[in-house]
Amino acid sequence: MTRTTALITGASSGIGAAYARLLADDFDLVLVARRADRLGDLAEELRARGAAVEVLPADLATHDGIAAVTGRLADGDVRMLVSNAGASGYAPLVDVEPDDINRLLTLNAVAPIQLVRAALPGMLDAGEGAIVTVASLLAFSAGLMDPRPPRRTLYVAGKAATVAFTRTLTNELVDTPVRTQLVCPGVVDTEWNSGAGRNIAWAMSPEDVASASLAGLRLGETICVPGLEGQEAALDALLAAETALVTGGNQPTLAARYTGPRT
Ligand SMILES: NC(=O)c1ccc[n+]([C@@H]2O[C@H](COP(=O)([O-])OP(=O)(O)OC[C@H]3O[C@@H](n4cnc5c(N)ncnc54)[C@H](OP(=O)(O)O)[C@@H]3O)[C@@H](O)[C@H]2O)c1
Repeated sequence: MTRTTALITGASSGIGAAYARLLADDFDLVLVARRADRLGDLAEELRARGAAVEVLPADLATHDGIAAVTGRLADGDVRMLVSNAGASGYAPLVDVEPDDINRLLTLNAVAPIQLVRAALPGMLDAGEGAIVTVASLLAFSAGLMDPRPPRRTLYVAGKAATVAFTRTLTNELVDTPVRTQLVCPGVVDTEWNSGAGRNIAWAMSPEDVASASLAGLRLGETICVPGLEGQEAALDALLAAETALVTGGNQPTLAARYTGPRT
């Protein structure tokens, strides 16, 4: 197999580093995150296995950081983009600094879109490409009243945007050679959120998440929920609920409950 190039964001730890280790046998790599020392150590490890590895330190919560990565993608040689960098920012919304809202949404929602936009022309020209975007099962947790997950309004807003973006993009690209995949892990045992997942019995390993995603790509899955048995039925039910809401609600007349007398 001819080696092509994969760019992985959030490669300095956790799930992103796991993708890098799994992809290094087949791809040359561009590793993106803020901690250049960590990226340098990983690059050395992977070069010893025969991969050509570039280190691209960038803060994806900033315009300049995104521009550095989109600039690299504009070279047009990247055939796999793993958009994985993210941060939790868990807190009640009232306690979040207004500037942190922009930073978190830029990192979790805007950067993945900008990176895809920059990667697509090269992939379409080459007639091949894969776009993997790591969101979270919490993206589907907006309506859950379960008090156990953390206060997460801003995180859910960003990841839900990423879910909607990637699913819609999948439909947009259906007649092209570019494959997309949305990855929605549950709790993963990483440094995430100061290592909170480390003490949770049902946390999955980052290696299993990355390996499920790559296996899912081989299976042609556009959505990968690594721990979910019966994924197809769950996704069919989700699509049926969305279809009922959109087609049922898109009517010229008011629903009957809005037409009664005002009391
Ligand atoms: N762990 C979980 O329970 C869990 C569950 C569902 C989804 N996820 C998702 O999985 C992805 C990876 O998280 P992880 O669990 O592997 O956690 P992690 O070990 O903390 O990794 C997060 C990665 O994102 C990078 N990153 C954070 N802020 C960044 C910034 N401003 N600019 C560039 N890179 C930045 C970090 O690198 P630097 O700090 O070096 O920049 C690190 O490489 C995230 O998108 C997260 O939402 C995680």
